[in-house]
Amino acid sequence: MKQLKFRNGDQMDAIGLGTWKSEKGEVTKAVKIALDNGYKHIDCAATYGNEAEVGEAFNEVFSRGEVKREDVWITSKLWNNAHKEEDVIPALKQTLKDLQLDYLDLYLIHWPVAFKPDVSFPEKAEDFLSLDEVPLIETWNEMVKAREQGLVKHIGVSNFSIEKLKELMEDTEHTPEMNQVELHPYLQQNKLLEFCSKHGINVTAYSPLGSGDRPEAMKAADEPSLLENPVINKIAKKHGASPGQILIKWSEQRGTAVIPKSTNEKRIKENLRSAGYQLDEDDMNEIADLDYHFRYVNGKFFEMEGNSYSNIYND
Ligand code: A2P
Repeated sequence: MKQLKFRNGDQMDAIGLGTWKSEKGEVTKAVKIALDNGYKHIDCAATYGNEAEVGEAFNEVFSRGEVKREDVWITSKLWNNAHKEEDVIPALKQTLKDLQLDYLDLYLIHWPVAFKPDVSFPEKAEDFLSLDEVPLIETWNEMVKAREQGLVKHIGVSNFSIEKLKELMEDTEHTPEMNQVELHPYLQQNKLLEFCSKHGINVTAYSPLGSGDRPEAMKAADEPSLLENPVINKIAKKHGASPGQILIKWSEQRGTAVIPKSTNEKRIKENLRSAGYQLDEDDMNEIADLDYHFRYVNGKFFEMEGNSYSNIYND
């Protein structure tokens, strides 16, 4: 499997296990299966509401001793209601407590959007803080502190457009080390990848399989299916792989990390084996043609009349 390199020489397995939408009752088992079957990269977030259950798996597997904490890359994310200077490190410490860890390998600002501290998910414009009230740099400076304190080894962002990255980078000498974004054949993010590569920012692809188990409220009525796409299925047949494996391999082969979510034992194992295939030039060209800038997670749920987030992605 490919490794992503960080500026200090640290390396991360390109294929990790996603935990967004993993049910509390299923995620402990899923993470244990993953770690017992060769996954060395687990992606978490406070807002997924299941970090305590993920933490149970870490505690059990690491105390058994066959898999060591230092051999696994663990990422988590700061939720949007903890962007104020005084809230960042306490939120990180809660995540560490829930995950039963002393440090994270990577901590990300989940969205370039701020809520009031008592709001988990906004329902009205008043639930937000504007970026004038909590500038991204205020949050970022605390992320830098967390790295200096050794609570996290690496820091980055998620759901940041080129514009948002530029805004942040103008204000700091500490360039983010990662940008985690939605990325799959319908949203190939070529310009963003080019920008990130130029600035030494690694990229992680979320929703690589089209995130079919998202809440109904987040789905469009006429949403396209990635797993059923005929080109993906044709290429899968050609290689004797599953469509999911082709989608995962495609991301890995392009040099990004990729974090398919599964709580199903067979698919957890199948997804890691994606690394064993190789897509040829014809496959890559055919998949390149599928791009049409379609987002499954379009950020519209953060845009409300009267708040300052009218165009989250700016692209
Ligand atoms: P399950 O957890 O039952 O395996 P994404 O990572 O894009 O958000 O997609 C996650 C969705 O894809 C989940 O519904 C998950 O279901 C399903 N899934 C995960 N791996 C595969 C696979 N290899 N083939 C088909 N569906 C998969």
